[in-house]
Amino acid sequence: MTEHIDINQINSNFRYRFDYLSKFLNFTSNDIAMLNKFAIIILSHIPVIVDTVYRKLLSFDIIKQYFLIRNDSFEDPLTKKIYILKRILTQIEWNDTFLQNLSRIGKIHTNKAGSSSINVDYIHICVLFGFLEHILIDIFYGQLKILIIKINMEYL
Ligand code: HEM
Repeated sequence: MTEHIDINQINSNFRYRFDYLSKFLNFTSNDIAMLNKFAIIILSHIPVIVDTVYRKLLSFDIIKQYFLIRNDSFEDPLTKKIYILKRILTQIEWNDTFLQNLSRIGKIHTNKAGSSSINVDYIHICVLFGFLEHILIDIFYGQLKILIIKINMEYL
């Protein structure tokens, strides 16, 4: 069966957009609960994650140029990114206020946020998601190895 998805709603209604993405990815309340559990492992690594991401982004001139743009509400970017990563991991209810905040952050990276717009080409966002995924998997793999070593030591 083919479900109709309204592109106008996708572009104008963040709840509708979130519902569509959730259906596509099969992202449910179980995933939110899982993120909240992962937070226990990830939270202490966030400053290092953000630092690693910045080093990567600033190592290419095509990306560095975006960070030379200073918008009206420019604040310490590291603090803001650490804050949003913590929020995503620890948020229990993905209510409209939370979604609207995510949507606002996304919008900043396009040309649709007025004077706050930085208009980042999607290719950079896409590779950054891939890079982040690698960092997170490495952290989990590291934790898993420590756990296995601990279990093995208990049985020695
Ligand atoms: C995984 C994707 C990304 C996430 C989750 C993310 C997150 C954020 C957040 C939370 C902010 C602060 C928004 C605010 O003012 O409240 C921000 C701003 C910004 N982002 Fe991103 N971002 C991403 C990708 C990128 C990429 C790929 C670039 C550059 C090519 C970039 C460049 C910037 C710039 C220049 C700002 C404004 C200054 C700053 O806060 O650093 N972002 N981003």
